[in-house]
Amino acid sequence: MISSLKAIVFCCLLSLLSYQIEADTCNTYNHPQYGIGQCINQSECLNALYLTGLCESKPSNIQCCFSTEPMREEFRAIWIATVTNIDWPSSGTATPAQQQSELLDILNKVQELNMNAVVFQVRPASDALYFSAFEPWSYYLTGKHGVAPSPFWDPLAFIVNEAHKRNIEVHAWLNPYRARTAGATYELAPTNMAKRFPQYAYTYGQYIWMDPGGAVVQEFIVNVTEDIVSRYAVDGIHIDDYFYPYSDGTEFPDAATYAAYQEQGGHLNKSDWRRSNVNTLIQSMYTRIHAVRPKIKFGISPFGIWKSGVPAGISGLSSYDELYCDSRMWLEEGLVDYMTPQLYWQIDPPAQSYPVLLNWWLQQSAKGRHVYAGNAAYKMAQGTVQWNANEIVRQINITRSMQDRLALGNVFFSTKEIMRNTKGIQSELAILYKKKAIIPKMKWL
Ligand SMILES: *[C@@H]1O[C@H](CO)[C@@H](O)[C@H](O)[C@H]1NC(C)=O
Ligand SMILES: *[C@@H]1O[C@H](CO)[C@@H](O)[C@H](O)[C@H]1NC(C)=O
Ligand SMILES: *[C@@H]1O[C@H](CO)[C@@H](O)[C@H](O)[C@H]1NC(C)=O
Ligand SMILES: *[C@@H]1O[C@H](CO)[C@@H](O)[C@H](O)[C@H]1NC(C)=O
Repeated sequence: MISSLKAIVFCCLLSLLSYQIEADTCNTYNHPQYGIGQCINQSECLNALYLTGLCESKPSNIQCCFSTEPMREEFRAIWIATVTNIDWPSSGTATPAQQQSELLDILNKVQELNMNAVVFQVRPASDALYFSAFEPWSYYLTGKHGVAPSPFWDPLAFIVNEAHKRNIEVHAWLNPYRARTAGATYELAPTNMAKRFPQYAYTYGQYIWMDPGGAVVQEFIVNVTEDIVSRYAVDGIHIDDYFYPYSDGTEFPDAATYAAYQEQGGHLNKSDWRRSNVNTLIQSMYTRIHAVRPKIKFGISPFGIWKSGVPAGISGLSSYDELYCDSRMWLEEGLVDYMTPQLYWQIDPPAQSYPVLLNWWLQQSAKGRHVYAGNAAYKMAQGTVQWNANEIVRQINITRSMQDRLALGNVFFSTKEIMRNTKGIQSELAILYKKKAIIPKMKWL
């Protein structure tokens, strides 16, 4: 049995090896029956199938071991935030070669830790970390809004190519409505949304924010998303928690847009109308990207509390009322393929209890969409009381304890805590992620 399998594998392997992939091919070779293998000591590869010639850079007793037990399905991801250079690139004045090398360091670490996905921010503020015919190059990439990298390169194309070599998924993360972020002072390029549709661009807080009620604004965002999906082999499209902006204490200045809606016969009150604007965008994005690429995944990572008081005992900001984000409905109706609620709180305090909230989110998934929890790795480094790595370990364990109810992974905010090995998190993950996992299968796609 084993030897015939070996023979089958060997034939297919020959064609694969002819691609001359530099890294250990074991990490990229997808066995038709056993999935991805691991380079480990041959003597430890028990009850399993091993193959030689796939762990080129390792000593000869290290071979590619395929477990004959089913692999765990688990989404293990990090957010790579580019806005204000949070995670990458280190600066807009770093050379393209330096920026590429930093990105490779991140991907190599993700691979080394047996993680399998990155959520890469490509459009932080109506700008682009990829070649776009629609929007200006990002300030955070080149230090100049609207100026292409020199020598030219395309970070999204680069990361997709390099990540796929390492068997890592790339989800392109877009911020829909933000046109310029807090603290930024650069002049907007003519192709930025705020310049294209000035009647819908407001200064709010320290931001420039687009009015989600503007039909052309919605249409434009969907066009931009479709453009990405049709030109890049991204595995998913992702949006985070920003819909209507977090309140700065003043009313969001969309009175004229709402009045126009009412004049056209609209009957929803302002709050419901605002939610419906966001819902329309989510629905349109979901439909359009799947029309172009049926198997692409659409994920949203909303604020972790839908409404304060839901479920009982939970209190905090009501994203439903404050951000006009009806995230529960999106999960319930299947307008997302996966939901990543940002459960950025500790396990034990009851007001934002991690297990209580995660359990509640799972209960909303009427259509069986996946839930990958969002975890606040940054809280090991920021705030008055900095978490220990043990908090994150326990959160992963809790998530796993609910895997049979579709809690199928974790996404960490953000990359820099992993790269800096804050509180020794790498060795903790190395234990939990000792064996590789496959990306959870979405049977409806
Ligand atoms: C591999 O396993 C053998 C036998 O258990 C052991 O002697 C050897 O030290 C191991 N090698 C490595 C690199 O771990
Ligand atoms: C969106 O794309 C369509 C098809 O190319 C185009 O006709 C339409 O004008 C675009 N909308 C906006 C707001 O750019
Ligand atoms: C808006 O209308 C909905 C549905 O009729 C209602 O439940 C809600 O209380 C109203 N909100 C406000 C702020 O009036
Ligand atoms: C997490 O789960 C692992 C594997 O089941 C276990 O060894 C470890 O003790 C758990 N850690 C914590 C902090 O719960």
